[in-house]
Amino acid sequence: MTARPSIQAFFDDATGTVSYVIADPASRCAAVVDPVLDFDLKSGRTGTVQAQRLLEHLREQDLTVQWILETHAHADHLSAAHWLQQQVGGRIAIGEHIREVQATFRKLYNLERGFLPDGSQFDHLFQDGEAFHIGELKAQALLVPGHTPADMAYVVGDAVFVGDTLFMPDVGTARADFPGGDARTLYASVQRILAMPPQTRVFVCHDYPPTQRAPAWESTVADQRAGNIHVRHGISEQAFIAMRQTRDATLDVPTLILPSIQVNIRAGRLPAPEDNGVAYLRIPLNALLATHR
Ligand SMILES: [Fe+2]
Repeated sequence: MTARPSIQAFFDDATGTVSYVIADPASRCAAVVDPVLDFDLKSGRTGTVQAQRLLEHLREQDLTVQWILETHAHADHLSAAHWLQQQVGGRIAIGEHIREVQATFRKLYNLERGFLPDGSQFDHLFQDGEAFHIGELKAQALLVPGHTPADMAYVVGDAVFVGDTLFMPDVGTARADFPGGDARTLYASVQRILAMPPQTRVFVCHDYPPTQRAPAWESTVADQRAGNIHVRHGISEQAFIAMRQTRDATLDVPTLILPSIQVNIRAGRLPAPEDNGVAYLRIPLNALLATHR
């Protein structure tokens, strides 16, 4: 029988992000998925209120963190991976194609020479299909590009953490218009997830709930196949691509894209303080859209 990990979700109201703690009940080993660092753009202040919730849970449950897993370089929130690692240890991991994302954004931000687009900022880079363990739980990393070129999904026992591919069935799928994103590629990645056993539990990275319901993050492959408004059974690749491209053309740039990505391609490390003791983020002027195709 497929193992059933214990899963605790933490929803961040400010960004609509869901972080997870995945635990192996037998060994009390755990992985954290997509932890959020609070960031107030208006004041430039970072905070750890959201990450502290994860930390308290890890401590209460007496869990040993083996992995801090990023599904991709997020454009909507800063990652708390580095902060969390300082508190509880664990290896920070992401997909190996993060190197492409780092190369694109190193250029955009004109980052310091010391910043190498080689993934060395992370403790581990997953290849497509790579197996790993959380305690005794079997896990696998899957490359699911399209939203970005580096997106990963993590299969753990009977659950899959899909990052920004699928959202809840009534919300659909992630946008595919970021640098290196592609609607056709996203469709293929989604099909890979939909081909999993129907009872597989699907955990999303974001929820943007319609007004009539509360935030939610768990569905099944069967729910997604039957009811996802963008990719349910019967919707063709061509129809999906047309829908995605039309819709993406109407979406605004995410509020935190410029602050987020420069931190997230550093595995959640903030830039080093300058000679006055203050650290700065960079805002390229009139350059982000030029990186779009
Ligand atoms: Fe994303």
